[in-house]
Amino acid sequence: MLYSVEKSILQEISLEELESRNCKLFIKRDDLIDSDVSGNKWRKLKYNIQQAQQLKQEGILTFGGAYSNHLVATAAACHKVGVKAVGIVRGDELNVNSNITLQRCADLGMHLVFVPRTKYDLRNERIYKEELSVQYPNFYQVPEGGANFYGMIGCQEIIKEINRTYDHVFVAQGTTTTSCGILLGLAENAKLNVVPVLKNYASIEEMTNLYISSVFEKDLIEELLSKVNVHQESHFGGYAKYTIELLNFIRDFYSKTKVPLDPIYTGKVMFTLFEELKKGNLDNQTVIFIHTGGVQGAQAIQAKEGIILYA
Ligand SMILES: Cc1ncc(COP(=O)(O)O)c(C=O)c1O
Repeated sequence: MLYSVEKSILQEISLEELESRNCKLFIKRDDLIDSDVSGNKWRKLKYNIQQAQQLKQEGILTFGGAYSNHLVATAAACHKVGVKAVGIVRGDELNVNSNITLQRCADLGMHLVFVPRTKYDLRNERIYKEELSVQYPNFYQVPEGGANFYGMIGCQEIIKEINRTYDHVFVAQGTTTTSCGILLGLAENAKLNVVPVLKNYASIEEMTNLYISSVFEKDLIEELLSKVNVHQESHFGGYAKYTIELLNFIRDFYSKTKVPLDPIYTGKVMFTLFEELKKGNLDNQTVIFIHTGGVQGAQAIQAKEGIILYA
């Protein structure tokens, strides 16, 4: 095993707000797996890397934005395995020195290709993928965010490791890979609470699409999706947008628990969880919060904008 998931403990959080509602909160600390390959990243890469190796590919080619946690994770995992990595980056105005995320990718040996946004928008189109396979033959292509069947199956293992009963799971949603994987292994009567970090995100349609592309039956998809609560308005304005209220919440949570959250993904989810708690929706419930990482991205934003989150 390249990265040990034993570091991902289930940590109980004791806070007055929780106790007064008789709510038990546990955090599945996938962020502790590794500093570069943190959170859901190893889960998504594990079977993709295995697949690339089985197919005797020279390396992995994948896609990401300027602060992509997935790009750093891919660079680090490929470096560790000893295979090459190519990262197609959204934005031809960027370069290797634009921020610490891209610098880290380059330091780990990833070859970065900066493309205009219009080109990047074609990343899931067959014609562009074929063009890339001509340019980079023998490179196994992994979609942005590790969003494919192998990524989803790896994410199922997060929930399979929870060895206690629970009523609710809370998780961030970007591409839906993590939430689709978790849903596959969810306890019978539990609910999966997803927090899309993009504005107007069609969660259920996107989840359905990932299941369909993985050749799941319609009835099974419907049964799975009936366990999902979508928190549609918890995006704080959209992807990578945040407010002072959110930053203060993250700082406060860190000072009380020493668990770092990020303003793009996990901070929005924990904020939503506490809103639900205030409304009384989690009274007498046991809740599992999936820490999907993202601290690397938060540190890059901190460095760029001079924000201090983890004092
Ligand atoms: C830290 C973090 N949390 C959550 C997510 C969302 O996961 P998914 O894209 O699988 O929905 C991402 C993006 O991949 C992420 O980087």
